[in-house]
Order: sequence, then C-alpha cells, then structure tokens
Amino acid sequence: MTVLARSIAQLRSAVASLEGSVGLVPTMGALHDGHGQLISKAAAENTSVVVSIFVNPLQFTDLGDCADFRDYPRDLRADLDRVERLGVDVVFAPSEEEMYPGGVPQVWVRAGEMGERLEGAARPGHFDGVTTVVAKLFQLIQPDRAYFGEKDAQQLAIIQRMVADLNFPLAIRPVPIIRGKDGLAESSRNQHLTPEAREQALVLPHTLAALRERAAAGRPLELESARAQLRGAPGVELDHLEIVDAATLLPVDEVGAGALAVAAIHVGGTRLIDNARLLPPLS
Ligand code: PAF
Repeated sequence: MTVLARSIAQLRSAVASLEGSVGLVPTMGALHDGHGQLISKAAAENTSVVVSIFVNPLQFTDLGDCADFRDYPRDLRADLDRVERLGVDVVFAPSEEEMYPGGVPQVWVRAGEMGERLEGAARPGHFDGVTTVVAKLFQLIQPDRAYFGEKDAQQLAIIQRMVADLNFPLAIRPVPIIRGKDGLAESSRNQHLTPEAREQALVLPHTLAALRERAAAGRPLELESARAQLRGAPGVELDHLEIVDAATLLPVDEVGAGALAVAAIHVGGTRLIDNARLLPPLS
C-alpha cells in the first residue's frame, strides 16, 4: 500500500521505514504514461520508490503569480490511484507552506548560465526554481537514484551538473521520451490541447524526426528550413529550434555523438517542448 505523506515529518518517518535502495521520481503531478515509465524504471532498479507531487511556484513566472501556475493541471486523487497501481511505496505531496514555510526562500541553488539559454531565455529564473526544489527533495529523501525524463533535456543536463558540482551522493537516471501513438511527446501540458491544437502540434515531432533522418544519412541539416517549416505551420508559433550539446547545452556546428535538436513552440496557447538525439550515442 502506498503511504501518503503531506508533511515533512510524515515523509521522514515513511522514508526511515524503507529498506534497501530508494529511487525518487520528482513530479508536479498530472501523471501520465511518461511518469509511469519513470516509476517503472525506478521500481526495477530499487527496493523502494518515492514519488513527489508538488507544483513548485518557484519555477513559474513571478514565483507562481501567473496563469500558467494557476492553470497547471492538478488531480491528486487520480495521481494517487495511478501510483498505487504502480506499487509506489511513498508519495510526498506537500503544501506550499510545508515546502516554503518562510515564503520565498532566501537561499537558492542557481542554475547559472546553463539555466539562461533555450527554455531559460523564455522563462527567466525557471531553472533556479527547479534546482532549488530538486535539491530540497534530494535532502529530504536522500535517494540512491533519481529519475528524470529526457523530454526535459535542459532540466536533465542542469540536474546532472548540479549533482556533480555539489556532490549530491546519488545517481541521476535519464528515461527516454514517451510518445503518444501520433508521435507527440507525453506532457502534462498536453491536457490543455484541443484535438485541433494537438494535430497542429505534430509538426514538432515531425520536424525533429526529419532532422534526425538527415543526420543519420549524413546530409546537411538545413536548420533554417526546418525553422521556417515550424514558423509557417498553421496555429504554431516557434520559440526556438537549436542544435546543442546534450551535456553542456552549448550550440554545436557539427553533428557529433552528443548533438541534440531541441525545440519549443506555442500552439493553442500552450507551450510545448521536444527534442531528438541526432545520432545514436556511441556505445
Ligand atoms: O519536471 C518536473 O516535473 C519539475 O520540473 C520537477 C523536476 C518535478 C521539479 O519541480
């Protein structure tokens, strides 16, 4: 049976009773099949699994004083049903007051330059909010492994860097992107898409797949025409499409082993991100 911890005291006592290795899956709830994949991998690699569900105001515009935060999908009942079915041991679902009892914290973990590019350019401060809350979760739960989706490639790279730079004693385990049958990457934000907007959004995975095919065939990427395709797609507004190194997030000119195509678009008022490794990693 899954134990629900609403307070830090309840969490500490639930975690203290876990035996063996602990895998943590940090989430903001509205759980979908992508989260299911993170949880299954955590369950396969650890004795116990802890899932956190917390819509973290620090990583939203104006520290949560925005429509994106207010409208973020929340359904704790459905999330609890899902994690129970997946055999999760502990769910940590704190209130804002529990996580930030003094209001906005004085001391943050800053993501630095890695947090200022790409998503960070469109959402200033977002990654500082992510690193701060994830560092708190690592402190509170002290997991052996923590699981992050490759869909949020910039978040994954920054968390890996945080763990290395600050010597957190745990392993970060990346989990591949889960896509719907139509190819759209799973995201809690997909709930906001009308069927028409979802259809329009498919230009994003299609464009990334075309870049991947060109890279695999050794042909020029023609990034500008890929951007033009996204800009010209009905209902779509392009934020960025870049080729970067997956670990440093710096732009790369040549398609090498770590090259990643990353993109963000707005469709039907919803911001969507996606990415594709251009070549299989060297084994
Ligand atoms: O990826 C997310 O859902 C969030 O950014 C995370 C890692 C749970 C931190 O709030």
